[in-house]
Amino acid sequence: MNEFNREHFPEAIRELHPRVGLVLGSGLGAFVDGLETVASVPYAEIPGIVVGRVPGHAGRFVFAEIGGTPVVIAQGRAHLYEGWSARKIAAGVRAMAALGVETLILTNAAGIVNPDFRPGQWMQITDHLNLTGQSPLTGSADFVDQSAVYSPGPRKAFAERAAALGLDLAEGVYAWLPGPQYETPAEIRMLRALGADAVGMSTVPEAIQARALGVEVAGFSCLTNYGAGLSDAPLHHEEVVETGRHAAAALSRLLTAWLIG
Ligand code: HPA
Repeated sequence: MNEFNREHFPEAIRELHPRVGLVLGSGLGAFVDGLETVASVPYAEIPGIVVGRVPGHAGRFVFAEIGGTPVVIAQGRAHLYEGWSARKIAAGVRAMAALGVETLILTNAAGIVNPDFRPGQWMQITDHLNLTGQSPLTGSADFVDQSAVYSPGPRKAFAERAAALGLDLAEGVYAWLPGPQYETPAEIRMLRALGADAVGMSTVPEAIQARALGVEVAGFSCLTNYGAGLSDAPLHHEEVVETGRHAAAALSRLLTAWLIG
């Protein structure tokens, strides 16, 4: 079920055919700096796409070419804690699919649940836990397979590129909670017992929606902080954004290497 089609979009982007979509998480918006952009459209100009209101998130699609591949970059996203439904949150993914995106790369800022990981590190998402009870497919009878949400092909390619670049890329399971509050120490222990390596408030609805539309998915968590109880420091959103900003350059190198092929 995709309510978007080309007629939906402003003229500036109606004829564009991005093959790869990229969603940027907290503090990662700077990825677009230094890219030669083809067009840029605020979400507000596309009926049906909701605008996130969190500091550190812009709200627009940026179109660019990276390594010869046309890409669309979603700078900022909406979240469950802002009051949107999971279906609404995933509208941007349906829009990107309508423009022809075949592979979607999702990024986020996440808290560390696996104590072997460290702040500033990137984790490629191998699988997820949806702990919100919400789905972007609610309202349909779309019994979509979830046995490989994060496609093995791109996953392997990214791991190889990271190794070649000397980037420290962990792998693990991302747990989606609604937020907006961070977790308690007991919740972090629970998440570890459930098999999570990282925790955050996004990405999963977009991944589910993409797979339902036949779009391949890769996901990356910027591990910005230890989950509650794994360190003595209290958690601040500013710290999350700041760590993301520093880590953005490494992701930029990885994505560019993957896009160049
Ligand atoms: N918990 C949930 N979401 C997050 C965190 C966290 O510790 N850090 C960044 N996003």
